[in-house]
Amino acid sequence: MSERVLMAPSILSADFMDLGAAVRLIQDGGADFIHVDVMDGHFVPNLTIGPPVVKALKRVATVPLDVHLMIDNADSAVGWYLDAGADLVTVHAEACDHLHRVVQTIRGAGARAGVSLNPGTPVEALRDIIGEVDLVLIMSVNPGFGGQSFIPRSVDRVRRLAALCVEEGVAPLIQVDGGIDPTTAPLVASTGARCLVAGSAVFCQSDPISAMNSIREAAERVL
Ligand code: DX5
Ligand code: ZN
Repeated sequence: MSERVLMAPSILSADFMDLGAAVRLIQDGGADFIHVDVMDGHFVPNLTIGPPVVKALKRVATVPLDVHLMIDNADSAVGWYLDAGADLVTVHAEACDHLHRVVQTIRGAGARAGVSLNPGTPVEALRDIIGEVDLVLIMSVNPGFGGQSFIPRSVDRVRRLAALCVEEGVAPLIQVDGGIDPTTAPLVASTGARCLVAGSAVFCQSDPISAMNSIREAAERVL
């Protein structure tokens, strides 16, 4: 059997009046993670949700909560999200004063640790942390909003990240987030992505489950 591509639908594009229903629908439909976008109005211009909503989501989630922190001062706030029940916490390298310590804190709490890079941050910046993380998230849009266009250079960034992992002898899960749909998914899967975040291409569609499956199938076809 060929390799699988994991799907992490982003509830940023779901109906915020009925988040529980969105989570139940998509996890019953085969989602591997629930991707939760936390934005603080500082690190990114937009403002979304915080620990109380993560805690509420945890009550209905049967798959791991993948919490993507687009916030300043992740060093001090990360504990709130761990306490709220995040199973995987991804922080931005650009937003942490002490990235290594934050990663240790996440893993020390028994969660999986991810590190994310904005499109303008060189992949090489991760060399000295890559052996300490479970996941690397390559942003394929500038974070802050759903529904943006995929930045084509992201394909080569994933390729260079995969090469860096080989050089360092490590194999974190490579995740890509932003503008992922059935057309862009195979591009990043072919260079090394094995976990895809998709918001509008899932929850803004009339049948979110078949939309998610189309993205996964398109990606797996090129493996
Ligand atoms: C963007 C967020 C994404 C967003 C993706 O800042 O991190 O997770 O929800 O949305 P789409 O898939 O619509 O680009
Ligand atoms: Zn995200």
